[in-house]
Amino acid sequence: MKNIVVLISGNGSNLQAIIDACEQKKINGTLRAVFSNKADAFGLERAREATIPAHALTADQFASRDAFDRELMLEIDAYAPDLVVLAGYMRILSPAFVSHYAGRLLNIHPSLLPKYPGLHTHRQVLENGDEEHGTTVHFVTDELDGGPVILQAKVPVFDGDTEEEITARVQAQEHAIYPLVVSWFVEGRLKMENNAAWLDGVCLPPQGYAADE
Ligand code: GAR
Repeated sequence: MKNIVVLISGNGSNLQAIIDACEQKKINGTLRAVFSNKADAFGLERAREATIPAHALTADQFASRDAFDRELMLEIDAYAPDLVVLAGYMRILSPAFVSHYAGRLLNIHPSLLPKYPGLHTHRQVLENGDEEHGTTVHFVTDELDGGPVILQAKVPVFDGDTEEEITARVQAQEHAIYPLVVSWFVEGRLKMENNAAWLDGVCLPPQGYAADE
């Protein structure tokens, strides 16, 4: 069984989707630990509820980003992870962290990348009058929200949508696609090579798997 470690900062609804998929054996792996950079993240409760070790490391305990990430790497590596999953982890990673986990580090970002890297994606979609929005699972590289795309899910934007409504619509899709991508990885079907994502030996296009063209 492959070892999975999840990093969060908040509610942890994507973490919950992964916990549920592991329990239902849709993911053939073991969730070894959850780390948060916020001590009050609700996701830590979710982990404890599922009897998964839950740890908080907060920035005020460390002199620098590098020192924080060094300790985080040590603690993560104690669980011998095959895969590290960022699930709403809202802290910039040091280059050393990214290169240490290169090829086994996934992120989910709430936009149809390369559109809207960074923060406040839902708000920008509404302000720009976009007709579609969505979410992206990708490998993490040094480029912020820029690593190879694995899978995207699209949602429509309706007239009069609020930020809350569009966020909920996107998150419902996240809870479907993130566990699926994690399952591909732990089954050995998904890899990052030459800065591209490969599924079942096929190099995925820039929009990831099964994007309509
Ligand atoms: C998710 O929607 C995820 O896409 C987003 O944070 C939310 C976390 O929700 N991630 C980012 O914005 C990363 N740049 P959750 O804590 O309920 O899973």
